[in-house]
Amino acid sequence: MAGPAPGRGLRLRPLAALALLLALAPGLPAARAGQAPRPAERGPPVRLFTEEELARYGGEEEDQPIYMAVKGVVFDVTSGKEFYGRGAPYNALTGKDSTRGVAKMSLDPADLTHDTTGLTAEELKSLDDVFTTVYKAKYPIVGYTARRILNEDGSPNLDFKPEDQPHFDIKDEF
Ligand code: HEM
Repeated sequence: MAGPAPGRGLRLRPLAALALLLALAPGLPAARAGQAPRPAERGPPVRLFTEEELARYGGEEEDQPIYMAVKGVVFDVTSGKEFYGRGAPYNALTGKDSTRGVAKMSLDPADLTHDTTGLTAEELKSLDDVFTTVYKAKYPIVGYTARRILNEDGSPNLDFKPEDQPHFDIKDEF
């Protein structure tokens, strides 16, 4: 019969390593606590915009950034001044949530709204395409429209659930 002794020492080694790990582990958070907080990894914090606030960024003033919202996401479209600046073809889309206009490719003032009621499947598809391939691809997100999260009177919408929002891709918009 072969003696068990040669194997035993080997078997103990992983246990010893585990014990060492456990002994060190509680020290790790303590060491981190002494360090300066990590810099934000996702850029500046996003803002919530009321309609009035968003309306200030309609490109009227030369040095002011130009913002517009699509699907409740506020984009800084300043780099697209040739489209959105004062006197430019799509200036009407700025300073507001123009979801419906983008979906219908319409600049009719009646369509310059967040409201997606009654849009066709084709228009909704077009909206998502432009949202992804133009706005998300070209422009930084600076915030969200308050209407997505607040009631008309400004109180928090306690029933708000991202997953209930129509036509929103919640994965990366919240
Ligand atoms: C005669 C009608 C139109 C023509 C010839 C036209 C032409 C164009 C062209 C050539 C571009 C691409 C420019 C570029 O990337 O350099 C563009 C972009 C765009 N168009 Fe139109 N367009 C027309 C009407 C409209 C209307 C009615 C809307 C209403 C919403 C619209 C919304 C847009 C948007 C959102 C972009 C993307 C701008 C960006 O890159 O930020 N277009 N259009």
